[in-house]
Amino acid sequence: MQYIGIDLGTSAVKILLVDEKGTILNTVSREYPLYFPHPGWSEQDPVDWWTAVQDGVQALLTGFDAAKVAGIGCGGQMHGLVALDAQDEVICPAILWNDGRTAEETDWLNAEIGKGKLSELTANIAFAGFTAPKLLWMRNKEPENFARISKVMLPKDYINYRLTGVHACDYSDASGMLLLDVAHRRWSKEMLDICGMKEAQMPKLFESYEPIGTVKPEVAQSLGLPENVKVVAGAGDNAAAAVGTGVVGEGGCNISLGTSGTIFISSKSFGVDPHNALHAFCHADGGWHLMGCMLSAASCNKWFCEDILNISDYAAEQTAITDDKLGRNRVFFLPYLMGERSPINDTDARGTFVGLSMDSARADMVQAVLEGVAFALRDSFEVAKAIGLAIDRSRLCGGGAKSPLWRKILANVLNIPLDIPQTEEGPGYGGAMLAMVGTGAYTSVQACADALCHVRETVSPDPAIATRYEAQYRKFQKIYPTMKDLFQNIK
Ligand code: XUL
Repeated sequence: MQYIGIDLGTSAVKILLVDEKGTILNTVSREYPLYFPHPGWSEQDPVDWWTAVQDGVQALLTGFDAAKVAGIGCGGQMHGLVALDAQDEVICPAILWNDGRTAEETDWLNAEIGKGKLSELTANIAFAGFTAPKLLWMRNKEPENFARISKVMLPKDYINYRLTGVHACDYSDASGMLLLDVAHRRWSKEMLDICGMKEAQMPKLFESYEPIGTVKPEVAQSLGLPENVKVVAGAGDNAAAAVGTGVVGEGGCNISLGTSGTIFISSKSFGVDPHNALHAFCHADGGWHLMGCMLSAASCNKWFCEDILNISDYAAEQTAITDDKLGRNRVFFLPYLMGERSPINDTDARGTFVGLSMDSARADMVQAVLEGVAFALRDSFEVAKAIGLAIDRSRLCGGGAKSPLWRKILANVLNIPLDIPQTEEGPGYGGAMLAMVGTGAYTSVQACADALCHVRETVSPDPAIATRYEAQYRKFQKIYPTMKDLFQNIK
């Protein structure tokens, strides 16, 4: 049989056709617009996602025997607020995971409800990108829209709804709403009350690998799918990526260098970072995970290369950065182009180059961008180490992981070996794997990962380079605290 894995990302949707042995038969990608209507705001139109998915699935199946498709699984960008009215029409643009407009509501939740209470109810504190502060923002700033909400969904749930007509959400993605009792895998009535929401406005909860329904006949017909194709609940993109790279069960680590940058540590049991710097969320395998998320990772490189330097060949731009240059750059970059989530939780933080001089070259700045992202990921890595998590190696996926230079920089900054999976299509591949489990091709997510996820290559740190980066990281660590107040003044 065959399975469709959908990665509903921020810049594009990527759709894979995979057989049960894990072979990728076809891949298509469709882009959609991303809107920044005000500094720090980030929105998309859910209908654009659905148009892209429909177009992409039709193209994906061209030349293939669609009758073999048994299931669909989607990994989607997390936290985005999709609000539907009583007719299931989208009320307003989706407010995305990297949108910073809710600073006031986030502060209110953390100060007035209190971090301790929030953590007790949801295992997490409020971050501006989470869904609950967005609901509060809407209640405060757009009360007429808030009053029309009949259902609240996350981005990939909207796709699943359009496919099946079912309002569903899985536990991994629901964890990022700040409305889920993560320890007990149920909506938190108290948090819903705090946000002025009722349980009837929330989607029904499922494990990621559970089928939520089948593709509606009219949709199946227009997409060229057979009837009765099952759709599983799917997962937040980070949990789906972890499934796709085989990071399930106890103690695995996956790093994703996508638009966002994440460190994801899987666990069979529920646990919370005592300082809540790392998110404590459900995993797509039935367990849990801790995660640090930086808001701009590969997007920093894309921004610098495409918007500033006006080039699209990233690899050519990196050829001047040879091994002897690693750990010796005098230019530093703070990658906070959309503010930052983990671990500093500061919506006002901004991107910054520090240390430029007349002899600074363009390549030093390109290198500084790659290094700044690696250093900022290390900040979350340090938080994980400080709470006793021993991470001695990690899998690596995401668009940024395609750069051999960036992999080398990251392996040396973190000073651990990075395993590159045979399949780098993290969330889409994970989505297809969840569909395999939900349709009975494998008995569990673990069994599916054991069978399909293999390491292609390992990038090991070089002791000399890692030592130089250790000293560089100490310098990087001093930059943000020095600038923190300034960011408040220049906003
Ligand atoms: C995770 C997060 C991002 C998005 C990106 O908490 O906000 O990784 O899921 O799509």
